[in-house]
Amino acid sequence: MPGDGHVDEILDDLDRTLGRGASYAEIFARWERQQWSATDLDFARDRDDWTALGPDRQRYLRWVLTQFFQGEEAVTVSLAPFVDAAPLPEQRVALATQLVDEARHAVFFQRVFGDVVGLDGSSSLGEALSAIGLDVTPGSRLLFDEVLGAATERLRSDHSPDALVRGVTVYHLLVEGTVALAGQRHVLDWLRREGLFPAMGEGFTHVTRDESRHVNLGVLILRDAVAADAALSDAIVETVLTSIPAVLGTLEPPDGDDAYYEAFGFTREDVAVWAFDSLRRKLSAVGVTVDGI
Ligand SMILES: [Fe+2]
Ligand SMILES: [Fe+2]
Repeated sequence: MPGDGHVDEILDDLDRTLGRGASYAEIFARWERQQWSATDLDFARDRDDWTALGPDRQRYLRWVLTQFFQGEEAVTVSLAPFVDAAPLPEQRVALATQLVDEARHAVFFQRVFGDVVGLDGSSSLGEALSAIGLDVTPGSRLLFDEVLGAATERLRSDHSPDALVRGVTVYHLLVEGTVALAGQRHVLDWLRREGLFPAMGEGFTHVTRDESRHVNLGVLILRDAVAADAALSDAIVETVLTSIPAVLGTLEPPDGDDAYYEAFGFTREDVAVWAFDSLRRKLSAVGVTVDGI
């Protein structure tokens, strides 16, 4: 079944693909092969699992899912300027496939909130996003609204290589390749260990596979940009270093309560260590080293 691969196999495959260097055409072909439907998932068992979870773990899991839901919506509305700014037609085609993916991811999380969490007032996407808004952690607001928001706004009117490289570093390397992959990897590891939420796990696996394609695409765009102008590696390094507080802020649980992690069998440090290992591997695939990372 397409949703069955273990998350570490998907992520190891990403690093192998980055090592040998996939083409834009290969990313497009993978996108065509790896289609899935957020609409077709049947959450009946997941709804029972949610009820059995109990109020504390429901609260912890809902916080995690909230960060993903708002994140997917934020990256959906942020991507169009990247499509405009990319210099190569192959890059624009691959980014256009990604735009469809991000929209599907937002709808997937809308369904999780409607059919599993049982969110009131979630009949439209806008209502569901408003209903979860207060639970979005301040670090996620900083990374998505301010850091990614600023990079995206610049790209709307500035299609220079410097603006594109800084935007792709925030979007593909930090938001996706560091924060999202780390969160998805740990959520999927927990779901598999506990044998819970089969439809949510299937959707999360598809999302992670999509995200690994997006990260691959971002690495390719950065690699091509640096090959054309080596000075652009300084823009990548500077963007990474100035964004680290925002990246770390996304991991801050409500009231600093580590139960939001430990209830799932890992610590906040486990996720942070995994996230920065992932970032290092992606930077090395671009050919950039950042001291202190
Ligand atoms: Fe996504
Ligand atoms: Fe993505």
